[in-house]
Amino acid sequence: MTEATIIDGKAFAAKLRERVGAEVRRITDAHGLKPNLTVILVGEDAASQVYVRNKGIQTEEAGMESVTHRLDASTDEATLLGMIEDLNADPKCNGILVQLPLPDHIDESKVLATIDPEKDVDGFHVINVGRLWTGQNALVPCTPYGCLMMLKDHFGSLSGKRALVLGRSNIVGKPMAALLLNESCTVTVAHSRTADLEERCREADILVAAVGRPEMVKGDWVKPGAVVIDVGINRVPAPEKGPDKTKLVGDVDFGEASAVAGAITPVPGGVGPMTIACLLRNTLVAACRQNGIDAPDL
Ligand code: GUN
Repeated sequence: MTEATIIDGKAFAAKLRERVGAEVRRITDAHGLKPNLTVILVGEDAASQVYVRNKGIQTEEAGMESVTHRLDASTDEATLLGMIEDLNADPKCNGILVQLPLPDHIDESKVLATIDPEKDVDGFHVINVGRLWTGQNALVPCTPYGCLMMLKDHFGSLSGKRALVLGRSNIVGKPMAALLLNESCTVTVAHSRTADLEERCREADILVAAVGRPEMVKGDWVKPGAVVIDVGINRVPAPEKGPDKTKLVGDVDFGEASAVAGAITPVPGGVGPMTIACLLRNTLVAACRQNGIDAPDL
């Protein structure tokens, strides 16, 4: 039986996109500035193609300019770095996103370090990582920022809450921990080597699961009434739907956890839609900062 409030990320993201769109119109009218997001995709990874297409569509729907460079999987590192340097120098480009993962022959950390931190709408450059951890004005990674927005909407203040982040990736786990710490949560980062993992999870008022393991977090890992944010997007076989059918599940066993939690994000329709909405928000913020315009508080 579902007792938890379902946090509707799809609706939340739609509202954020509307607010971003309204601000873009205001800034375009007042300053003649149309924010530009440029995405670089190297290779033919199927999931990346879908993400990049959706980014382009939603960027234009928000009234911004979208440019996508699709490069062959065999593109060499120097060519990619040269393209990023050209975009850094182009005042019309406000946001640069290099879709990950990159082919093995390209050094990801070198690529991320080449992006101008002021155009780093992913928030992956070490300058933005450092700003985030020191509480300065960073461009913040989109998925954890989306999680934070939903948590603040649910709780109001997060001050003093016990938060557990399951997963320590640079894209989600670590920046999520920094954001929660900046909101005065008491933060634990747990991972595959954490001792007494289930007990640590049960102590949390806020449980963010970002490990990429289908339905790993069971109902009895969840503190009654806790808020559960499920970042996982895992495609698994769904024989109940027919032979060769698949479905998306999160890192949390939704059926079990939703009977215990106070609120929970579903998969799909929870965290996922927030990522691109936050990317649009970051692009708008970056464009404003680059042009000396007060960035809207979105
Ligand atoms: N691949 C999966 N998630 C992301 C993301 O948030 N940004 C980029 N650039 N690539 C990704």
